[in-house]
Order: sequence, then C-alpha cells, then structure tokens
Amino acid sequence: MENRSQWGTRAGFILAAAGSAIGLGNIWRFPTTAFENGGGAFMVPYLIALLTAGIPILIMEFTMGHKYRGSAPLTYKKMNKNTEWIGWWAVLVAFVISTYYSVIIAWAISYSIFSFNLNWGSDTEGFLFGNYLETAAPGEFGGFVPGVLIPLIIVWIVVLGILYRGVKKGIEMANRIFIPLLAIVFLIIVIRAVTLPGAFEGLNTFFTPDFGALSDPDVWVAAYGQIFFTMSIAFAIMITYASYLPKKSDITNNAFIVGFGNSSFELLSGIGVFSVLGFMAVNQGVAVDEVVAGGVGLAFVVFPQIINQLPALNELFGVLFFASLVLAGLSSLISIIETYVAGLSDKFKISREKAVLFGGGFAALVSLVFATRGGLNFLDAADYFINQFGVAALGLIEVIVIAWFVRKLSDFKSHANEISDMRLGSWWTASLMVITPVVLGYNMIILLRQNLM
Ligand code: PHE
Ligand code: NA
Repeated sequence: MENRSQWGTRAGFILAAAGSAIGLGNIWRFPTTAFENGGGAFMVPYLIALLTAGIPILIMEFTMGHKYRGSAPLTYKKMNKNTEWIGWWAVLVAFVISTYYSVIIAWAISYSIFSFNLNWGSDTEGFLFGNYLETAAPGEFGGFVPGVLIPLIIVWIVVLGILYRGVKKGIEMANRIFIPLLAIVFLIIVIRAVTLPGAFEGLNTFFTPDFGALSDPDVWVAAYGQIFFTMSIAFAIMITYASYLPKKSDITNNAFIVGFGNSSFELLSGIGVFSVLGFMAVNQGVAVDEVVAGGVGLAFVVFPQIINQLPALNELFGVLFFASLVLAGLSSLISIIETYVAGLSDKFKISREKAVLFGGGFAALVSLVFATRGGLNFLDAADYFINQFGVAALGLIEVIVIAWFVRKLSDFKSHANEISDMRLGSWWTASLMVITPVVLGYNMIILLRQNLM
C-alpha cells in the first residue's frame, strides 16, 4: 500500500497535529486543573510531566506512525502481531469520545448564535439546563431537543465532509484555516481579558503558588492526566497523523513544536480565563475562588455571565469566545474520527470515502442519544468513564508493552535519530521505561481504589 495519502507540507502536518492537541481541554480543563492543584506551583509538575511523558510519548507515537505507516491498529500489528488489540482499544476510546465531543461543539454553535442578542439572560444556569437543554428527569425519555439536534447535524456534515475530502484536501486544508483563525480570535479575547478591571486579582489568584501542593501525589497525577488529555496522546490520533508523513520528516523537532505550541496555548488560556474570573469576582464583590468553575459550567454558565457584565461589545466578545470553542473543538474532533476512518479502511481494505460514511455515519447516529432530553446524564457518564479508564489505562499499557514487552524503544530511537536533527538521549528512554510507567501505575492504583472500594 505505497499509495498511502500524505500531508502536502510540513506546516500542514504541524497545524493538524496542533489542531488535534489544542481543544476544549486547553480552554476549560487546564485553567481549573491548575488552580485546584497548587496554582502557580502546578507549573512544576506540569512541566515535568510535559518533558517526561508528553513529549517523549509524542515522539514515540510520531515514530511509530512514520515507521510502520499505518492506522493505529495496523501500526501496532506491524510492530508485533500480538499487540494489534491496543490499537483497536485506542480506536474504540476515540469512537466514544467523538460521539459526545461533537455534542459539545453543537452547544458552542448554539451559544455563538445566542451571543448575538445575549439570549441566555441573567440566569445563565437556568437557561442552559431549562431552556436550552430542556433537561428531563434521569431515565425519562422526552425525545430530541431541536436546539441541540440541528447544530449537531451541522457538525457531522461539516466534519465528515472534511474527512471525505482526504488528508491533504480535507484535514490539512481545514486546519490551515481553523488554527490561524483560532489564534487570532483567541489573542483578541485574551488581550481584552487582561485589560479588564479585576484581571490582576484573577491572575494573582491563579499564579499564587502553593508549594505545599508539590508533596501531594494527587497533584502529580493531575499533571500527568492533563498532559495526556491535552496532547491527544495514547488516543491513536498522533500515530495515525504521523502515518501520513513523508519519508524525510524531522519527527523530534515536530514533536517539540506541537508540544510547546499546545502548552503555550494552554497557558494563554489560563491567563485569559483567570483574568475574566477576576473581573467577575471584583464586579460582584466576591473572592476569585468563589467563581472558579470548570468544564461545561465554566463555558456555558460562567462565561455567559461574564459576557453579560462586560463594559462594551458584549455580543461581539460572546460570538468570538464561542467561535473559538467551535474552532478548537472541530479540529480535535476531525483527528479523533480520522483514527477510526483510517483503522476501518486499513482493516477491511475499503476506501476512505466508505470508511467515512460507515464509521462516521455510525458515530453520528450514536451521538444523537446525547441530543435527547436527559441525554446530559449519558454524556457525563461517558466522559467520566472514558477519562478515568480509557485514557489512563491505555497510556499505561502502551508504554509498558512497548518499553518492556516488545522492547522497541532502541529501534524507535535510531529510527527517529536517523531523520531528525536533534538526537534523542537517555532522558527519552528513561522517561518511557521508568518515570511514566511508575506515575501512571500509581495513578491506576488510586483510581481502582476509589472506584472499587
Ligand atoms: N487534546 C484535546 C484537548 O485538549 C482533546 C482531545 C482528546 C482531542 C482526545 C482528541 C482526542 O481538548
Ligand atoms: Na490540548
């Protein structure tokens, strides 16, 4: 199969990989996680996790995709015939994520439209759950919520359309538009945020280091967890994207650009989010920690409130903020779906177009569950299950199998070194053989204890 698709340019690949990494996790997961785990001091475990797990695994996954030139299952199979299942597990996790990640983008589309006249009013929480999601009691099936269903269908048409067009004309082109646009929109938002009254109080709360947190093992686990999620590693994604790299590609350098690019975006978003939280807290006469929220609550309850309170151009900043969620979300969603499009097409020797229609079409159907009244309960459950078990377990198994069972690290190291400027040293091997397995293993034990006892 030497006619495998290829990226048109190096920048195209970097933008696509960065587009996958930069997502909802940067905007609503990082700021809150950092704040809750030591504030300014969180940067220490975060940077260590980036350098001992994030970048080393990214380099490893880029190398695997480049060397074996396959979707994740095919890559694992070529590496060792007994490890194909790891690739399928990753693909399955990606499939499940795509069914609800798409729904959150659909909400963001609705909210960009609501921004035009601040439709959410002053009770933003009541609006989200009552008016917009029309939430039903758990277990009750009340049919579809049209306000979610319609943007969700649009998300699927756009994303599957992009994937249908292929690696270069679809994925690469979409990211060439989305990512620069996202950078511009986000910069405008952050500049507005840091110049608001109260921004300083917010940043002060965010960055005030609690060095005591460094002796708390949970803080380290949180840092590694954030790195895995935010860099889209152990999800089959980066292997798949790297399988479309041309023979001559500087893998190591690309991994550093993508990793540091994603973390810079993350830091920028922490600065933006805490500036506006400071603005809101000062405005309401409360302490900043009283208004901190994460996830859905941050984006769809707290942000609309902040947008209401801005001194001017409220509607414009509303549109820009939700548009940035849509752009960041779409580029990540494309990468998640590509894992099973590539997996199906390699396995069953079918064309990309067919794999998009069958695989993507099936995911779209499943996602409709989350567009029903009461669908929110399923969404929370799916997200919890995937984050806790899918990703943590997968990351652990991936490094242990590769470093200790099939023992491929030195092969991969010479493969990467042959084509990259920067040479991988022993930090790379030590990170993957020892540091990452120990931290993730510990994480797994904590998780199992919390869930089984
Ligand atoms: N890395 C993305 C983010 O930060 C999330 C993501 C997870 C994307 C899994 C794809 C797959 O939001
Ligand atoms: Na990210």
